[in-house]
Amino acid sequence: MSRFYFSCIGCGATFPLTENIYSCSRCGDLIQAEVLIDEVREEVDFRALKKQPISVWRYAPLLPILNTSKLITLHEGGTGLHHCRRLGSLIGLEHLYVKNEGENPTGSFKDRGMTVGISRALEVGARSVICASTGNTAASLAAYGAKAGLKRIVLIPSGKIAYGKLAQAIVYGAQIVQIKGNFDEALNIVFKICSRNKEVYLLNSVNPFRIEGQKTLAYEVCDQLNRHPDYFIIPVGNAGNISAAWKGFKEYYNFDQIKAKPKMVGVQAEGAAPIAEAVAKKSLSITPVNKPETVATAIRIGAPVSWKKALRAVYESHGTALTVSDDEILEAQSLLARLEGLFVEPASAAPIAALKKLKEEDYLSSGDFVVCVATGHGLKDPDVISRLYEKPVEVDAEVSSIERLLGFAEEARVHSI
Ligand SMILES: Cc1ncc(COP(=O)(O)O)c(C=O)c1O
Ligand SMILES: [Zn+2]
Repeated sequence: MSRFYFSCIGCGATFPLTENIYSCSRCGDLIQAEVLIDEVREEVDFRALKKQPISVWRYAPLLPILNTSKLITLHEGGTGLHHCRRLGSLIGLEHLYVKNEGENPTGSFKDRGMTVGISRALEVGARSVICASTGNTAASLAAYGAKAGLKRIVLIPSGKIAYGKLAQAIVYGAQIVQIKGNFDEALNIVFKICSRNKEVYLLNSVNPFRIEGQKTLAYEVCDQLNRHPDYFIIPVGNAGNISAAWKGFKEYYNFDQIKAKPKMVGVQAEGAAPIAEAVAKKSLSITPVNKPETVATAIRIGAPVSWKKALRAVYESHGTALTVSDDEILEAQSLLARLEGLFVEPASAAPIAALKKLKEEDYLSSGDFVVCVATGHGLKDPDVISRLYEKPVEVDAEVSSIERLLGFAEEARVHSI
C-alpha cells in the first residue's frame, strides 16, 4: 500500500497515485500528492534517514515513487547552504544564508523536480516528455530525459531565454520549438498538446511529481540549519517552487522535524508581478499581467499557473510578497558575487535585492534566521554580464607596463625583495 494519494487543491477530491493525471477530473483544478502523515511518523526512521548523504533521494521514503529501483538521477540536491557573513553585515543580518541551487547538475533547482518527474514518466510508460520553459526547465528536462532514453520536446518563447539554458537544451538533444509568444502562451499550447496526445508526458510544475522533488529544498534547509528558518525568501515565476517549498516545510513540521515553520516571502520583478500585486491588495486571486517584462527572464511570467498555491503559502505562513526592479536585481547579483563568491542568474538575485527593502522596513530583525534561495547559476545568462559590465582591458604582453597598470610601484617592489 502506498502512503501517497492525490488530492485536488480546489475541491479536495482524492485520487489514487496509480492514476496518471495532472488535474482534477471533477473541477479541473491542480492536483497534488499527499502523504499520510501518521504513517510517515510511525514508519520512517528520520535518524537513519539523516545519516544518508544529503540529496533529493535521501528523502525517498517521503517521495511518491513506487519503484525506487529504477530512478533516473544525476545526483541532484545536497546543494550548499552558505552563511553569508559579509553580505549579512552590510544589510544588518547575523544569520543570512543562501541556498545555492545553481550547484545542481544542470545548474538550477529544476533538477530536484525533474529527477522525480522523469522517474515517474518511466513508471507510467511514457516515451516522450514535454514542457514549456523560460529556460531552466528545458535544460533539466533535456538532461534527465536523455539519461532515461526518452524523446524530449521543449517549447520556449523565441529570443527570450538566456543563452546558457538554450545551449544546454541543444546539447542534451531536446527537440526545441521557439514560439513567437511568451511563456504563458507556450504553456497553454503544451497543455493542449498533452490533452490531445496521451503518450506525451507533461513535465511543467503542474505535474505533482515535480513539486514533490522540489519540496526537498525545504527539508534540506532544515537539516543543514538544524532548525527552521524564520524567513524563506524565494523568487516567484510560475509559482511552483514557492508552493513546493511551503509544502516541504509543512510536512517537516508535521513529521516533528522542526519546531516552527518559516514565513514565506515571494519576490517578483516589477514587470511581472501578479502574485506580489495580489498580496499587496490582500486579494485571494490574481490579475494576470499581459506582457510581462524583466531582465530576469526565468521569472518573466504573467499568469502563474500555481498562483493559488503561492497565495496560500504566503497567507498561511503569515509571510509576504514584494517586487524589485531590474536595476535592484542586477545590483544584488553583483553584490552577492563580489561579497560572497556566489554567481547567480538575475532571477536568483531577486531575493537578495528584496533583503535591503525588508530590513529597511524592519520586516526583518538582525537576529532572524533568513534563507534566500538562489535558484539558478549565473553562467546560465552570460549575455546579461557582457551587456552590463565593462570589457577587461587589453594590453601588450609586457611585464613592466602591466605592473604600472596594476599600480605596483617600482620602489615598493625593490623593498619587498
Ligand atoms: C532561475 C529560476 N528562478 C526562479 C524561477 C521561478 O520558479 P517558479 O516558476 O517555480 O516560481 C525559475 C523558473 O523557471 C527559474 O528558472
Ligand atoms: Zn477538484
